[in-house]
Amino acid sequence: MTMMDALTRLGEPFLGDLQSLYANQPQTGLDGKSYAIDASTRISVEEGLFLHDSCRNAAMTATLEVGMGYGFSTTFLLAALDANGGGRHIAIDPYQHSDWDGIGESRMASLLPRTQNLKHHDFTLIHDRSDHAAIDLERSGASFDLLFIDGYHRFDDVLIDVYLLTRLCRPDGLIVLHDLWLPSVQAVQSFLCHNRPDLQPIPTSCTNLAVFRRRDTDQRNWDHFVPFPMAFEIEMASES
Ligand SMILES: C[S@@+](CC[C@H](N)C(=O)[O-])C[C@H]1O[C@@H](n2cnc3c(N)ncnc32)[C@H](O)[C@@H]1O
Repeated sequence: MTMMDALTRLGEPFLGDLQSLYANQPQTGLDGKSYAIDASTRISVEEGLFLHDSCRNAAMTATLEVGMGYGFSTTFLLAALDANGGGRHIAIDPYQHSDWDGIGESRMASLLPRTQNLKHHDFTLIHDRSDHAAIDLERSGASFDLLFIDGYHRFDDVLIDVYLLTRLCRPDGLIVLHDLWLPSVQAVQSFLCHNRPDLQPIPTSCTNLAVFRRRDTDQRNWDHFVPFPMAFEIEMASES
């Protein structure tokens, strides 16, 4: 079975919508006009199915992502929440209108009324930087089962996203970093593996994802620091 075949388990309306995106078909922006899309800005089907299945298998009801773009990842997560009987999803992206013609937002406005269990207000797009939005969300008492980090990809931006968003992660929830091919993201993964015992690295066959389960609160001393190499090899043992 190919990965595109595996997509069929999402069902409609998500399946047809994702098939159109992965086929690089022009998409409708918020202004109603049709736009060509940039095929380099996306998660793979395998990565999307990992997000979807993680959400389905743990019956998650609250998810968050940093970096919406055209909304590939958004669609996989909403499909899982819908199949779980309902839930809420927050996407954070300050550039949805300026860089993406509002395509992600427009797609969600079209998708949501066609779902089984999701209402318009179950999806929120925060038009702000992730560091600002994360602090607002923490102050509001929000928490999530899964947080997907795919925003700005410099080392310090990713590390700040993880640092702030981990505090919004429910016990035993997942934090997933995208674009592990980048040295910046590999360095964040390595830092976390060496310095954050509260975050358990989870092996995955998706080589472009770094996955952590939040096992505890961060209880390190004020002067804690373990030097870390630029990259960390996670053994492909099954999760205990
Ligand atoms: C690789 S794209 C995300 C792709 C998306 N996850 C998908 O699967 O379609 C990266 C996104 O991060 C957004 N971004 C850049 N800086 C950001 C920031 N400081 N906070 C939140 N999002 C940011 C960009 O506008 C862009 O949409």
